[in-house]
Amino acid sequence: MSNHAAAELDRQAIAARLAAVRQRTGLLVSVLDWPTLRRQQIPILSPMVWDLGHIGHFEEEWLARRLTGAAALHDGFAAMFDPQQNPRPTREALPLPDEKQLADYLERVRRRSRRTLEEIEVATAPDLLSDGLVFELVAEHEEQHQETLLQAMQVLHRPGYPAPDRRSPPAAPQRPDGMALVPRGPFEMGRGPAGFAYDNERPRHRRELPDFEIDRTPTTHGDYLEFVEAGGYVSPEHWSEAGWRWCRQRGAVAPRNWTRREDGWWVRFFDRELPLPQALPVVHVCYWEAEAYAAFAGRRLPTEAEWEKAALWDPAAGRARLYPWGDEPPEPRHANLDQLLFQPAPVGAYPDGVSAYGVHQMVGDVWEWTSSDFTAYPGFVAFPYREYSESFFGADYKVLRGGSWATRPGVARGTFRNWDYPIRRQIFAGFRCARDV
Ligand code: AVJ
Ligand code: FE
Repeated sequence: MSNHAAAELDRQAIAARLAAVRQRTGLLVSVLDWPTLRRQQIPILSPMVWDLGHIGHFEEEWLARRLTGAAALHDGFAAMFDPQQNPRPTREALPLPDEKQLADYLERVRRRSRRTLEEIEVATAPDLLSDGLVFELVAEHEEQHQETLLQAMQVLHRPGYPAPDRRSPPAAPQRPDGMALVPRGPFEMGRGPAGFAYDNERPRHRRELPDFEIDRTPTTHGDYLEFVEAGGYVSPEHWSEAGWRWCRQRGAVAPRNWTRREDGWWVRFFDRELPLPQALPVVHVCYWEAEAYAAFAGRRLPTEAEWEKAALWDPAAGRARLYPWGDEPPEPRHANLDQLLFQPAPVGAYPDGVSAYGVHQMVGDVWEWTSSDFTAYPGFVAFPYREYSESFFGADYKVLRGGSWATRPGVARGTFRNWDYPIRRQIFAGFRCARDV
């Protein structure tokens, strides 16, 4: 930013943000005992203790080593909590710290960060410090790992993760019907130069799309049940070749966490099992399942560009919004974010959060699979490190957009891009469909 005042650090606000993020991490893990935190639930997720140590390591790496050149507080931890050196399946076998060592490490790292925040001047490292960028990076990193922790918490079975401070979802009087038309024409995709964003969200660039329609709401459990009951998992009819191969290998008969009982399907959210919640967006489906449902329904998944235009473009103003509803930061009335519902909310529950095109719940509730591979925008520049995005670009990953109920508002920018393998179901992912007109 060219405005000098805007580049200064708001030290108080930054300290409060970091503290609030840590407080939430503490709340989420507070209801689990140490053996559960120490155990690896499934090979594709870390033991929760590893996530916690890695949160500290990342903070230390950016707010100490890279910013001030200070040495690591604990060389062993620097190696142990580096994701590149320790692939997920190997993390349970690491000599992870015990409860007290972990708490001490996190606290010592934080104490040093607070001191740095009080003393550092923007001029010492303007690229990292303007507008508090590196502190926001550390805060958002921890918030993203909260969502990873919640994935591990969701896979805990019997009696299940006792969700703390759980809130009730708002009611939805009626379902917003059908599809919204997004007329042809140019729009601007990606985050502009001001404000924090990850490198992969930039630069903002112009795209031109033909007319298309997009579902006004995410696909619900009720919608998806039709596919299951129509033999969706029994015949390859609607699946891509790779998708059907996944379905056979996995022996899937329904989304993850669905259980068939004498009285019908039940769905588990943490320690709570519900009779199939018709009006809630379907969640814990992989890309292949989303793609197969879309074909069954005579539609297709949206591209990432279509998703972003439908969510953020304001055709009357000729500019992109930060969120579907406008530029104001998320409030509980806009979207199901911030974790404490521990499940998606019914479709139609957030009329205050609709986009300019009248599309509901694009931010919050469930991440939405798009048909796009995770690739760089034209003019991409890796910043501040290659391993955040650039190492993952290519055809291996599909892009997910919009955040979920487990996403903190601070990470729920409309331009935020998530990515995962098309086989992944532990993430809080659903989808909506689109079609050509
Ligand atoms: C953006 C969710 C794919 O968890 O691998 C966390 C976020 N990057 N630590 C991931 C991330 C570094 C990332 N995702
Ligand atoms: Fe990380």
